[in-house]
Amino acid sequence: MSIQTPEELAALRTAGRIVRLMLDAMKAAARSGITTLELDRIGGDVMRAHGARSAPTLVYQFPGVNCISVNDEIVHGIPSSRRLRNGDLLKLDVTIEKDGFMADAAETIIVGPPVNESAIGARLAVCARRAFEQAMRVARAGNRVRDIGRAVEHEVHAAGFHVIRDLCGHGIGRTIHEKPSIPNWPDPSASQLLTEGLVITVEPIIASRSGLSLLARDGWTVRTADRGLAAHYEHTLVITQDEPLLLTAA
Ligand code: CO
Repeated sequence: MSIQTPEELAALRTAGRIVRLMLDAMKAAARSGITTLELDRIGGDVMRAHGARSAPTLVYQFPGVNCISVNDEIVHGIPSSRRLRNGDLLKLDVTIEKDGFMADAAETIIVGPPVNESAIGARLAVCARRAFEQAMRVARAGNRVRDIGRAVEHEVHAAGFHVIRDLCGHGIGRTIHEKPSIPNWPDPSASQLLTEGLVITVEPIIASRSGLSLLARDGWTVRTADRGLAAHYEHTLVITQDEPLLLTAA
C-alpha cells in the first residue's frame, strides 16, 4: 500500500511494534532444548496480548503463528517438535495483522553461546543484515525497485554467498503480499519507481552454497536444494524522500 493519511501510518507503526515485541520475545527464549513449537507459542502469546493475529494463518492458512526455519530451511518452516541445538542457524519470520494492517520482519540468530565469527553460519547471518543495510542507502523515492536488488546482490556476492532468486521482498500493508515484488538481485523487470509513502519489505534471503531452493515434502518449508545454510533479514519500511522509515525496528 501507499500511505495516504497519518492514521494509516499510526496503524502500521502499531503493527510493526507488535512484530518487534514478538521477535524479541522469541529471540530471548531461543536456546538449546526448546522446540520450535514452544518458541512459536511464546511469540503467539505476545501477539494475542496485543490483539493481533497471525497474517500467514489468516491469509494462507499456514499451520503455525510464525514461520520458523532452521539451518538449510530458508523460509516458511512449520513450528514443530524439533528441538533446537547449540549452533543451529535459526530464522524467525513474523507477520501479523492488527486492525486491518500488516507488518513483517525476520531475523537470523545462532542458538547458544557465541560461535566463532568465522563460522559460515555467523558470516551468513551478518551478510544478510549488511545486505539489508546497503539496500537502505538506495531505498528512497526516485530510485527504482531494482536498485534495492542491486545493492543486496553486490554485498552478498562480495561475501562469497548467493541470493535465492525465487524469494523476494514485497509490498505490504493491507495484506501480506502486495505489489511490487522486491527482488534481491537487479532484475531488469523491477523498473517501478519507489514513491513516497510506499510500504514494502526489504528482505535479503541468502545461502552459503548456491541460490537454488526447493519445496520440502510438508508443502510449506522452502529449503536449500544442496543442503547449504540459509539466512534471512527483513524489515517493513516506508519509502520517503530520505532514509526509509523502519516500522519493525527496535
Ligand atoms: Co516478507
